[in-house]
Amino acid sequence: MPELAPKALAIRLRQQAILSDFGVEALRATELLPLLQRATELCAEGMEAQFCKALEYKPYQDCLLVCAGVGWAADAVGTAIIGADLASPAGYALKTGRPVISNHLQDETRFRTPKLMADHGIRRAINVLIANRDGNYGVLEVDDTREGQFEEADIAFMQGFANLVGGAIERQRAEARLKAAVERQELLSREMSHRVKNSLAVVAGFLGLQARGSDNEDVKAALADARTRVEAVAQVHDQLWRQPSLEAIDVAGFLEALCARLQESAPHHTLVCRAQTVNIPADLAIPLGLFVNELVTNAIKYAYPEGAGEIRITVRDVGADDGAAGGLHLSVCDDGVGLPDGFDPTAARRASLGMRIVNSLARQLGGPLEIATDRPGAHFSLRIAPTMAD
Ligand SMILES: Nc1ncnc2c1ncn2[C@@H]1O[C@H](COP(=O)(O)OP(=O)(O)O)[C@@H](O)[C@H]1O
Ligand SMILES: [Mg+2]
Repeated sequence: MPELAPKALAIRLRQQAILSDFGVEALRATELLPLLQRATELCAEGMEAQFCKALEYKPYQDCLLVCAGVGWAADAVGTAIIGADLASPAGYALKTGRPVISNHLQDETRFRTPKLMADHGIRRAINVLIANRDGNYGVLEVDDTREGQFEEADIAFMQGFANLVGGAIERQRAEARLKAAVERQELLSREMSHRVKNSLAVVAGFLGLQARGSDNEDVKAALADARTRVEAVAQVHDQLWRQPSLEAIDVAGFLEALCARLQESAPHHTLVCRAQTVNIPADLAIPLGLFVNELVTNAIKYAYPEGAGEIRITVRDVGADDGAAGGLHLSVCDDGVGLPDGFDPTAARRASLGMRIVNSLARQLGGPLEIATDRPGAHFSLRIAPTMAD
């Protein structure tokens, strides 16, 4: 291999340094045009050339658009167009995939000089293809008005730039596609929740009609209970699709909205909802909402037979400490008459339907259900396992 003259060696070393710096920028870039602009600036610098441009291929018009560049008249970038046929140097590089050097454009028989280049008095040009796994993106071109020689070794430098740009474009497009897919998925989940809620409202309506059609008080009561529970599930779904993110649902917002709905059904009672802002996944929000619904409905029905009173719903983030695993502490309390004597809501087999549901939801949430008996009223609490989304 012939030894490089010191000047040539210095140029190659500088080109290597510029290329490796650009590699870092290309990996980090989140926007295409600023990256292309940066590529053209650094490429011109490394080539010690006056002009550089990044051309994007427009297949419908079969032309190349100058989408970034240095040295060109101010209005060229973003508007100037170059033919993508084989008779233009850039078109040749694009269509054949081969790099092109032309050191004497005016004497060329292979190519005509595109208008943009003639207007700027360009004498020599070097073109490489920008490609990736999605196909050919376009061409990276360096030009100069001065006498001189572009060489084979310059191609390696420019192709390095073009490859980095091609890879960055592929990555950015893949990220954009993923983002769109996630957004669509989220939209569908929301739409599903909305539809589930509407369908359940229809079911609740049927149960109401059936209850009205029956003469038997027990049947009426059972159907009314079934209706309330179906409505509760519907309400939870109604809350779900309104949340900003389905991945992580804010317990505070979610429970406050649920309590506001329950309050509407019992205007004489006072529902106090104190929930810390903690995120939980939708899978937990559904049993949590139903659990609260069941206990608050009971308190509304039974706690204050003589009148009205307060019903408190609290959620605290207990955090992990020595021995305890952390998670959430949830409680539903009232200051009413309290549970009937000898009533054990956790004795699952003998328990009434409402309590069986409460116990089963507690298990889903990571229970166990605790009932405080040292003060008046009914006090239910539960520690929810720390499986929360961040
Ligand atoms: N907050 C409460 N205060 C007083 N009694 C309650 C309370 N919650 C539940 N109970 C009692 O527990 C019983 C069982 O409740 P539950 O299983 O939900 O059945 P239901 O609501 O269908 O009566 C109720 O009938 C009621 O006597
Ligand atoms: Mg009940």
